[in-house]
Amino acid sequence: MRNTRSSLLLGCVLFCSASLLYLGMSGIECPPKSHRYRWMELNLGSANQSLSLMEHFPEDTPLIFIGGFPRSGTTLMRVMLDAHNAVRCGEETRVIPRLLAMRATWSRSVKERMRLDEAGVTDQVLDSAVRAFLLEVIVGHGEPAPRLCNKDPFALKSLSYLSRIFPKAKFVLMLRDGRATVHSMISRKVTISGFDLSSYRDCLTKWSSAVETMFSQCQAAGESICLPVRYEQLVLHAEEEMRKLLHFLELQWDPSVLHHEELIGKAGGVSLSKVERSTDQVMKPVNTDALSKWVGHIPSDVISDMAEIAPMLARLGYDPHANPPDYTRPEPTGSLFNDSQNLKATETPHPS
Ligand code: A3P
Repeated sequence: MRNTRSSLLLGCVLFCSASLLYLGMSGIECPPKSHRYRWMELNLGSANQSLSLMEHFPEDTPLIFIGGFPRSGTTLMRVMLDAHNAVRCGEETRVIPRLLAMRATWSRSVKERMRLDEAGVTDQVLDSAVRAFLLEVIVGHGEPAPRLCNKDPFALKSLSYLSRIFPKAKFVLMLRDGRATVHSMISRKVTISGFDLSSYRDCLTKWSSAVETMFSQCQAAGESICLPVRYEQLVLHAEEEMRKLLHFLELQWDPSVLHHEELIGKAGGVSLSKVERSTDQVMKPVNTDALSKWVGHIPSDVISDMAEIAPMLARLGYDPHANPPDYTRPEPTGSLFNDSQNLKATETPHPS
């Protein structure tokens, strides 16, 4: 009896030790390689994680930034580019535009600027920190690729600043008829801080001002740095627009960009977020369904004041009195940059 009890005890001890050993071993298994690690292997031929990315690419990484007012086809543009064999954009990071907005406030007040300088936190120190943060997020949040891209719509409110800290970066500014954009926001209840979703008038006024901030910086950067792309032209003439875009980005033509839907969820293809608002729409092939959905939804008093409420409509070539305008009318190439009215950037203030 005594012998049976000791054997049972010994058995238990051995079983527990084996289980603990197994659990311990599995706990110290190597984690899967991070995106950053694989990016370093691919691009730098080394994967020493202790080295900072900035030591290799201080500022001349040819990043691509896609932006514009939300609901302007920004996700469609990024999935089409994601389908290119050399590019990875990925989901919205959300933190990048927030950091850029914060950076803009740090030097806005003269008193605060003086306090920071006194503490040695100069513009140079801040810019270097912002550059490192952006690069870490852009590299680390998705698969490695020869050309990395970021799509966070409002990051382009800081286009001039981004162009200064990444002088080799290129920018793609998505533009869309503001009436369609605002109708999309209101009908899908897409909240943007400061916008009153119960008022077309309020949303169109603020759409115009936000688009002006981004468009003026795009114009000031010049056509070799920033390319405005009209959503309507993209969906109506996808191949022509994508050829123009890839030429601007100095990338080879890749027909996959016209069939992004075939590469969703595939390695090196298109990764989608379950929670982004446009995911259900970008899963479909490029289509023209959304062009005139807004017609008949805007109150008549707003329709009659449209030119005054949203002056950017006319500036971008959308007839404010046509409901809807003829989107099939081809725009002369480069016409967006020939607007001499406003060559001066009205960027979110940033230190020079
Ligand atoms: P609607 O809501 O008017 O349909 P963003 O990604 O910048 O928020 O833009 C969303 C808009 O892009 C949506 O407008 C949507 O229809 C359009 N879009 C998304 N995928 C599309 C596709 N495959 N073809 C055409 N338009 C698409």
